[in-house]
Formats: sequence, C-alpha cells, structure tokens
Amino acid sequence: MYLLKEKSDYKIIYDKLKSLLKNSYAPFSKFNVASAAEGGSGNIYYGVNVENVSFSLTICAERNAIFHAISKGEKTITKVFILSTAKSPITPCGACRQVISEFSNDAKIIMFSNDGVNYEEKSIKKLLPDGFDYKV
Ligand code: THU
Repeated sequence: MYLLKEKSDYKIIYDKLKSLLKNSYAPFSKFNVASAAEGGSGNIYYGVNVENVSFSLTICAERNAIFHAISKGEKTITKVFILSTAKSPITPCGACRQVISEFSNDAKIIMFSNDGVNYEEKSIKKLLPDGFDYKV
C-alpha cells in the first residue's frame, strides 16, 4: 500500500475518478465504480460501470474506460486506475483482467482507497498470470 501524495499525477486522476463516481449507473448493486485507462500516447480515458435490469448486460468501469481509449485510436494500455465506493481498494474482475491483457503484458493497475489516502499498485501479469491466448 502506498500513500497518495497531494499534487501528484495520481492524485489528479483520483480527484477526477471521485467526481465521476456520481455518473456510475448502478441501481441494482448500488456499488459505484469509476476507472481511468492510460493509452500508449499518454492520454487518459475514463469510464464508469453501467448496469442493466437484465443483469448479465452490465459492464464494468474498467472495460468502459479501456474501450473508450481504443475507440479514440489507442493501440496499447499502460495503466488502469480504479476507484469504487468501497472503503478499501478493489481489484479488477477476471473479465477485465483478460481485456487489460489484450492491450498490454505489463500494464500497471492502480487501485485507490475511497478516501484517497492510499493506493495499491500491481502489474497485470501478477493479477492474471496465465490468461487465455493462442497462436494460429
Ligand atoms: N464492477 C466494476 O465496475 N469493476 C470491478 O472491478 C468490479 C465490479 C461493477 C459491476 C457491477 O456494476 C458492480 O460493480 C457490482 O458488481
């Protein structure tokens, strides 16, 4: 666990995610998540979780942020930031880990505590050591 320093680049992203939590559409779980994906260009893209009354159609904040980045022309993802309404940092779900792996073998995942006092940082390799891949 690392301390989140005032005025650091990560603090700027934390502040943005904190304000984005209100855009999360989570009437069923009441669990709000906001995420940012840094593309290879250095630009940052944002997303929130969007639920549906047909539950399985729900999409996580991380995938929305990553798909936003790819839609804007990014080819790789270098960092994924996550903030939720839970007090402690949350890790990305298995499906999102597989999607992150698609665009990077060594992306950093930065997971903030809700109060922004600290964060955890892990590589995607560590979170998904043996993800699905194939060669034709
Ligand atoms: N969720 C995310 O957006 N990201 C995660 O890493 C875990 C789960 C969402 C999906 C659903 O809307 C809610 O959180 C509860 O599972």
